[in-house]
Amino acid sequence: MMSILNIARMGHPILRAVAEPVADPTAPEIRRLVADMLDTAPEVGGTGLAAPQVHVGQRVVVFTVGPERLTGRPLDQPQDWLALINPTIEPLTDEQELGWEGCLSVPGLRGAVPRWPTIRYRGLTPAGQIIDRVVEGFHARVVQHECDHLDGVLYPQRMTDLRLLLFNEEAARFPIELPADRERKAAE
Ligand code: NI
Repeated sequence: MMSILNIARMGHPILRAVAEPVADPTAPEIRRLVADMLDTAPEVGGTGLAAPQVHVGQRVVVFTVGPERLTGRPLDQPQDWLALINPTIEPLTDEQELGWEGCLSVPGLRGAVPRWPTIRYRGLTPAGQIIDRVVEGFHARVVQHECDHLDGVLYPQRMTDLRLLLFNEEAARFPIELPADRERKAAE
């Protein structure tokens, strides 16, 4: 049976809390949570979802990387829906880079958020498989966004220029090009 979970929105305290590590990543209740998150995220139009967004304070995220958002960098690889338990991130660059993000918990808006362009991330799948990868570009951005949820951080808190927090409709009417957008266009 398919379960669509309710999404917590900005202002709900669970989104500000630090989530608990999962003691047993292969436990049946974690498998069930992941299945429900994987049912929910595509249904509500998300590219990622973290457990606190469905009112569960555990360190679990699911995400996908669609080919349409890739930056063209070699380690920015597409990814089918993947669940990560107790994920960790290690930045592999000094500088951060601005890119657009939205969030199911902050509906209707997008913002330009500084993130590490290259990271190493690690975690476990619900099958107990170890994931250990170096990625860049949009793939790296999605993972950083989702893992921030586990530490009670929403993307507007990462923003350095709140003039770049936009309603999606207005962003479509009055497009703003970031340096990374120009770089991607030049590469096409
Ligand atoms: Ni989010």
